[in-house]
Amino acid sequence: AFNLKNRSFLTLRDYTPKEIAFLLKLAADLKAAKYAGTERPVLQGKDIALIFEKSSTRTRVGFEVAAYDQGARVTYLGPSGNHIGHKETVKDTARVLGRIYDAIEYRGFGQEVVETLAAYAGVPVYNGLTDEFHPTQILADFLTMQEHVDKPLHQVAYAFLGDAGNNMGDSLLIGGAKMGMDVRLCAPRACWPEESIQREAREIAEHTGARVTLTESVDEAVRGVDFVYTDVWVSMGEAKEKWAERIKLLKPYQVTREVMEKTGNPRACFMHCLPAFHNAETTVGAEIQREFGLDCMEVTEEVFESPASIVFDQAENRMHTIKAVLVATLGG
Ligand code: CP
Ligand code: NVA
Repeated sequence: AFNLKNRSFLTLRDYTPKEIAFLLKLAADLKAAKYAGTERPVLQGKDIALIFEKSSTRTRVGFEVAAYDQGARVTYLGPSGNHIGHKETVKDTARVLGRIYDAIEYRGFGQEVVETLAAYAGVPVYNGLTDEFHPTQILADFLTMQEHVDKPLHQVAYAFLGDAGNNMGDSLLIGGAKMGMDVRLCAPRACWPEESIQREAREIAEHTGARVTLTESVDEAVRGVDFVYTDVWVSMGEAKEKWAERIKLLKPYQVTREVMEKTGNPRACFMHCLPAFHNAETTVGAEIQREFGLDCMEVTEEVFESPASIVFDQAENRMHTIKAVLVATLGG
């Protein structure tokens, strides 16, 4: 087994392929144990601080239920009502929380904030999403992929369509490169990850045998893939003013039935980290419909609600994979 005790989880780049595979196996075991009613709590008496400077449904409940299942306690610190970053520096906050908590989860803006927390807290820090990376999401996505194909991850091909120059595109690129997968990001050049991330992914791929493709062509991206993945066109923390520009740039990359058919793989699955704009039934969706006459953005309702869609398996697996990170880094 691997000793990940006291390790932070800030990006996938800090973990070896074997360590990532170990976390995925642990998550699958913990999931099976929960279903069988045989889960053994190993985190009794541990306290975990959950800092959220942006909204969340899945990540928050994933951490909370994972912690409770394992006997730990959590404190939620939301976007308001505390001093973090306003009246108290991140460095001071890290040292305070590190005296009282056994671990800290952080969701916020710059990656440097979560790195600073980890540098000064003296306890493991987990990245619950920054502008640059969303590593716990990728663990859930890879576990979900494993559950839906009869082959090892290094034989899996996936295409990410849409806003690839962001936390999800960056993380799927680095994560897929690490696990030796066939990773394809498909977007107009303006929405590609930073050069440095592309270079890093290619360097990792040289060691793992991964195939890394960045392309503007949907046909090239989706041909023969097992999974088609997308994410919102405007992320948390980005201004509403981006909507018009992104819609114009990314409309050709919307995941439609035709795109799913272009894979040539009748068993290809649709993935999304969620939340998704697939209809106008939310307040934001209604606003987009009013302003731009669109009923959906990155994926059509048809694909989202189709049998190929495995988005709720991903959502459930957030909890099991976060639990694996907690158990591996804090457990006995
Ligand atoms: N996928 C994800 O991170 O969802 P939340 O924003 O709801 O946590
Ligand atoms: N790119 C999205 C991911 C949400 C889980 C965002 O940052 O808002």
